[in-house]
Amino acid sequence: MRTPICEKLGCELPIFAFSHCRDVVVEVTKAGGFGVLGASTFSPEQLEAELRWIDQHVDGRPYGVDVIIPTKYDKEAETTTEDLEKLIPDEHRAFMDRLLAEEGVPELPPDERERIHKEIVEGRGNMTPDGARRLLRVALAHPQVKLVVSALGSPPPDVVEELRERKVMIGAMCGKGEHAARHKAAGVQVIVAQGTEAGGHTGDIATMVLVPQVVEACGDEVAVLAAGGIAKGSQIAAALALGAQGVWCGTVWLGTRESELDPFEKQVMFETRSEDAVRRKARTGKTVRMTRSKLSEAWEQPGAPKYLPTPLQGILYNEAHARVVRAKRKDLYSFPAGQVVGMINEETSVRDVMYRMQLEYLETMERLRKLDPSES
Ligand SMILES: Cc1cc2nc3c(=O)[nH]c(=O)nc-3n(C[C@H](O)[C@H](O)[C@H](O)COP(=O)(O)O)c2cc1C
Repeated sequence: MRTPICEKLGCELPIFAFSHCRDVVVEVTKAGGFGVLGASTFSPEQLEAELRWIDQHVDGRPYGVDVIIPTKYDKEAETTTEDLEKLIPDEHRAFMDRLLAEEGVPELPPDERERIHKEIVEGRGNMTPDGARRLLRVALAHPQVKLVVSALGSPPPDVVEELRERKVMIGAMCGKGEHAARHKAAGVQVIVAQGTEAGGHTGDIATMVLVPQVVEACGDEVAVLAAGGIAKGSQIAAALALGAQGVWCGTVWLGTRESELDPFEKQVMFETRSEDAVRRKARTGKTVRMTRSKLSEAWEQPGAPKYLPTPLQGILYNEAHARVVRAKRKDLYSFPAGQVVGMINEETSVRDVMYRMQLEYLETMERLRKLDPSES
């Protein structure tokens, strides 16, 4: 399974793991893959602590960091959070409050509300050009960070230049064939072609269709990783067959012992079917593939207020989500997850997932080899 990207980045397997959880990043990296920490929700101080911990646990291996550092920002990026809160219409607040009250979901204790508000403020800070650069500076102070991925759009020229000087590879997420050429022109070296099946913010095109388009647009200079719908070794084989140099997985780690989800949240994942990983705007105002719940669906009903733009919808949603988790209400719980959520039915460990995927990959290759008449 070794491909050229393994040589370039210094890992044994082209299995990339996106996670907001440092334990997942460490375990994937130690198992020969390449862990990438989703950093955009951390303050610079928190990120420093997370990366120091990862450095201490990965036995000198390389790993990556994912930040939201596009060239163009939404116009709200420079608005302070207090001002943003004022922009949430009463109608929208009332809709969410009424929904939770009718469902009997208790309000948060004041200290919990304050903690969530602080998290939102810090998260918002990272969505500005200065905030993203602060996170980048923290990441670059850790020499084991060998890949920085920009989550929403091509990274700006000064960032590309700095990363190249420091010999850190530059990656970017991509949901359309035409975005690949833009990333390539911006100096991106690794493109994550993420299909609509994926958890999180996704576009409309399926991985099977997107990956060959991106590979074709990139030529040999840029490595393409396939993302969306990959949780088994046979899917890794398919991704490599489409021309990808590796796979980038997110959902499959959510059900592991190491994941950031608590037992209640994991149980929801285990019970969710593929068709219940739906694309909705309820969480951020942009389409996110997430598990369906009464909360996600309420916003889709006739008479519901229109979705607010990012980040206003997210500010409104985050507090409601915290109330739902605290009340352990499965019927109201939604979390980003891809269609492969339907293939995850019980808790395992990251190490088990890595081992199983390699075994399945070998079995698949053996099956394919037998299809070649010259082999029989
Ligand atoms: C819970 C969750 C949160 C995610 N958050 C981000 C993010 O902050 N930045 C990002 O680039 N991708 C994010 N993604 C998308 C992943 O990077 C990845 O492309 C996707 O999970 C791959 O598809 P899969 O879900 O089918 O494995 C997230 C995915 C999940 C499941």
